[in-house]
Amino acid sequence: MMQHRIGIDYSRALLKRKTKKSLPLVGRLSRTVDIEKLLAQIRQLLQCLRQEGASAGYADPASSEHNYHLKTSRGESFIRNYEEFYAQYSVIGFQDLSEEARISAAGLSFSVNDLTPSQRLRGMRNTSSVKYHPHYDERNYTKPTRFLTGYIAEVLSGFKAEACRAALVCLQPKNYISPHFDIGPEYVVRTMIPVITNSKSIVGIRTASGYSEFHLPADGGIYFINAGFEHYAINDGCEPRYQIRICLNGQDDLDGLVPLEPVRELSNTEFAQHPCARGYPNEQPAAENILLRTLREFNLEKSGKARLG
Ligand SMILES: [Fe+2]
Repeated sequence: MMQHRIGIDYSRALLKRKTKKSLPLVGRLSRTVDIEKLLAQIRQLLQCLRQEGASAGYADPASSEHNYHLKTSRGESFIRNYEEFYAQYSVIGFQDLSEEARISAAGLSFSVNDLTPSQRLRGMRNTSSVKYHPHYDERNYTKPTRFLTGYIAEVLSGFKAEACRAALVCLQPKNYISPHFDIGPEYVVRTMIPVITNSKSIVGIRTASGYSEFHLPADGGIYFINAGFEHYAINDGCEPRYQIRICLNGQDDLDGLVPLEPVRELSNTEFAQHPCARGYPNEQPAAENILLRTLREFNLEKSGKARLG
């Protein structure tokens, strides 16, 4: 297993990894988990948190979402409803910033927000680059929190690749995450284990002609999300949706990946009427296509390949 350390130059490893184009939009890993066991532990954890006095909106102090707040070069959030959304998105962090990363970050004279997208991308390729900042690198979130115990710890250590930035994430009813990009799967593989969900919890991913919408069932499956493509998520159901997000530093766990069938295909015209495009529930119309803007922000070619200057 490749273990992340600051200083590693990933350039050669990246060449051997698949890019977003050669992976399905959503796929089920060959490995599964015991969903009943997982659900029991999650229920217990949520109960504990409630008893700790978090009567309304417990925000886990180990949550890395604030550190990972990605902005454009103009200082705007990609995710339009970012603040309200992330305030309650990460319910329980299982992995926090490593000590190595904390020490390294403390010695830097610049912050993540001072960096351009291409400087960040260069840092992700080579972590010894001058403008590398540990906070934006998801691979640094490997320090177990007090919540990483029992079966969840077993699930995390059972991957072939090193797991990072794992958390229980919650999407409240009628909440959504507007279309955005994350870093491509050659850098970080994004997986989700749905724990409590409903059929109206959907993730939409960009295709050539619009979006494919998927529903991830809580069936013990571990699902790969091709987050290098523009994507959104919505919970149009009546109950909160809970998933365990686990990022992986490597693609070995994707061997035998089975593509998931979409539940719906949306054309661009249809998407213009979608809640995630219009704003939801009571936002201003916002049907801007951020695809080209984001390619520009991350200094990417349309192929998704990084253009590194
Ligand atoms: Fe995302």
